[in-house]
Amino acid sequence: MKNKHYAVVTGASSGIGREISIKLAERGFNIIAVARRDSLLNELKVELGKINEGIEVVTKSCDLSIIDDAISLYEELKVFDIRVWVNNAGVGYYGKAFSQPIKDTKALLNLNINTLAILSLMFVRDNQNIDGSQLINVSSAGGYTIVPTAVTYCGSKFFVSSFTEGVAHELLNLNAKIKVKLLAPAATKTDFGRVANGVEYYDYDKVFGTYHSSEELADFFIQLYDSNNVVGYVDRESFSFKLLDNKMPYANNNKFNQKI
Ligand SMILES: NC(=O)c1ccc[n+]([C@@H]2O[C@H](COP(=O)([O-])OP(=O)(O)OC[C@H]3O[C@@H](n4cnc5c(N)ncnc54)[C@H](OP(=O)(O)O)[C@@H]3O)[C@@H](O)[C@H]2O)c1
Repeated sequence: MKNKHYAVVTGASSGIGREISIKLAERGFNIIAVARRDSLLNELKVELGKINEGIEVVTKSCDLSIIDDAISLYEELKVFDIRVWVNNAGVGYYGKAFSQPIKDTKALLNLNINTLAILSLMFVRDNQNIDGSQLINVSSAGGYTIVPTAVTYCGSKFFVSSFTEGVAHELLNLNAKIKVKLLAPAATKTDFGRVANGVEYYDYDKVFGTYHSSEELADFFIQLYDSNNVVGYVDRESFSFKLLDNKMPYANNNKFNQKI
């Protein structure tokens, strides 16, 4: 299957983003894979070439916690006909919120919140009336529930959930053509736990017992992509996947809203 359109996936070098890139390549999208680790992006490029030899794969090494670099990357990518933008790159931190070195907290907030919001708004601004365009942000079950030892991370993902659902409401009210959605995984076996705990090795079987694989998450992603729903949510207790129109409370037509 060949498609002249491109899909951008941030955080494509490992875990969920890598598997989402594979799914979108199978759908015929040319892939623009973004992350910091060039060597892993190049390995992915070879793999995607085998999965679908008809597509183009562009790799971009960028530290998305540096907001100006993320904005420059967006401007640079404007030459491509991008239909799907997936803000998946994200980092966690397990521990007491105040025990994290401030420089790492700053990088987490910049990546998970600032860059995600700015890239989302630029993509929506440029594609709101383009048929078939989709923005999909990756939040977390921790973007709807405060999980002990992951307070700053959950706070950042609450932002992703409320911001993405809010932008989706705005665009639905405007009958815009773009679809804005969010995927909220629960525990998924990736590099996330190792990075968030700052350890060499992290055993999901010992620490969680129940979790999804990143391939399962990519299947959920495709269900969300194919649907008209806004939220693809994994329940962190039952591990079931649900497609919903919204999950955050929304004060639509509320008499206490500003009247203009
Ligand atoms: N795994 C879970 O249990 C879980 C649960 C809920 C939500 N999520 C969310 O799922 C998303 C993907 O995480 P994952 O589980 O697949 O973890 P992962 O395997 O650690 O992947 C994270 C990806 O983000 C990229 N990234 C990290 N910092 C970056 C930066 N400064 N600039 C550019 N790219 C950066 C990493 O690439 P480089 O290191 O090469 O830059 C990597 O490709 C995240 O948003 C995470 O919050 C994960």
